Amino acid sequence: MVHRTVGVFFGSRSVEHDVSIVTAHQTIQALQSAGHTVIPIYITRTGEWYTGEGLFDLKNYQQENIRNVANVEPTHLSPSTRYHGLITPPMAGRFAKSRFQRIDVAFSTIHGTHGEDGTIQGLFEMADIPYVGTGVLASAIANHKAIAKSLLQQAGIPVVEGISFTRYAWLEDPEAILAQLEPLGYPLFIKPATLGSSIGVAPAHDMERLRLHIDIAASLSTEILVEKAITNAVEINCAVMGNYTIEASVLEQPMSTQDFLTYEEKYLRGEGKTAGMKGADRIIPAPISDELTRIIQEYAIRGFKAIRGRGIARIDFLVQKDTHQVYLNEINTMPGSISFYLWKASGKSPIEVVNQLIDIAFEVHAEKRQTTYDYQSKLLELAAQKGIQGVKK
Ligand SMILES: Nc1ncnc2c1ncn2[C@@H]1O[C@H](COP(=O)(O)OP(=O)(O)O)[C@@H](O)[C@H]1O
Ligand SMILES: [Mg+2]
Repeated sequence: MVHRTVGVFFGSRSVEHDVSIVTAHQTIQALQSAGHTVIPIYITRTGEWYTGEGLFDLKNYQQENIRNVANVEPTHLSPSTRYHGLITPPMAGRFAKSRFQRIDVAFSTIHGTHGEDGTIQGLFEMADIPYVGTGVLASAIANHKAIAKSLLQQAGIPVVEGISFTRYAWLEDPEAILAQLEPLGYPLFIKPATLGSSIGVAPAHDMERLRLHIDIAASLSTEILVEKAITNAVEINCAVMGNYTIEASVLEQPMSTQDFLTYEEKYLRGEGKTAGMKGADRIIPAPISDELTRIIQEYAIRGFKAIRGRGIARIDFLVQKDTHQVYLNEINTMPGSISFYLWKASGKSPIEVVNQLIDIAFEVHAEKRQTTYDYQSKLLELAAQKGIQGVKK
């Protein structure tokens, strides 16, 4: 493995800001253990960019102002292909000079808005810097629950039936929207189309609650998704990784759904007890049959391909306990802790995960290089000769 200079980007203007700092530090540890040089880039809640050694210490984030921490300075990433990294500080004083630090590969560990949604990926594309994880399109699709749903549906992957509409349409004519939702039947689940971390997500058992939660979701996102609620469901997650070929991890059952104890008890009494438990908040591997495991892994891989994913993701499912019907609920293109715990259980160490992700980043970048962007037309020559009077009215 070639040792690289990796820029790790984290924080950002997102409700999942704090989680991102933790994921970043787990990633930095893995990268440093793998022998890479890490440049940390912290984006504050208000969108200011900082770099420096002071960012390696988690304690420093509890300070009132990160700017006052020793060895932390403002920075920014150049979007120009002429540079390939950070300019620090961006506005040097009269007698000071900006430094330039090259970044071989970018690794964003931002969760949610301004990071997981394709925005920072767009900046890396402009700067022509290889980057880890899903590209602009896949990131944006996965971040939009309504768009993701229709794409997955088209790919023949089972998703929960739902209807989406804009905030504008809701404010214009709520009765028409309610009439449209009626055939779905209660209970329903209301979600802002573009948020994560369960923010604004709520069930409704009657019209009064439905109206209330649509109002809340509409204040959080310009598009709202209303789904049939899957009652008596268990949540199962699967991580995927790859580029041309995608592999699936072992499955986890997060413990937010405590009512799945029958399966769990059965399993935990067996040999899975010591092998399967990882902390108190999840069961790995998920206590479901081998057949259901294979079905979910297969849907996870197909779902990732359907959104044109590459790199890594965690795909979350709902499984109805009685019928065992599987629904793909959502695709997280920047999974918490990079899903290291799922890969560990699948026999891949965090060092192997980050190295594989960096390899994919360079593979994707090399593939992009084979695309021609420079089309030399005779247009300017002609325009210079003839003038451009045709454009004027
Ligand atoms: N259609 C549904 N039926 C039942 N439970 C659901 C449904 N949709 C979401 N949930 C529950 O709500 C949680 C949050 O919804 P999710 O779509 O995962 O949004 P987020 O992006 O905020 O994580 C899920 O983990 C699940 O427990
Ligand atoms: Mg979720």
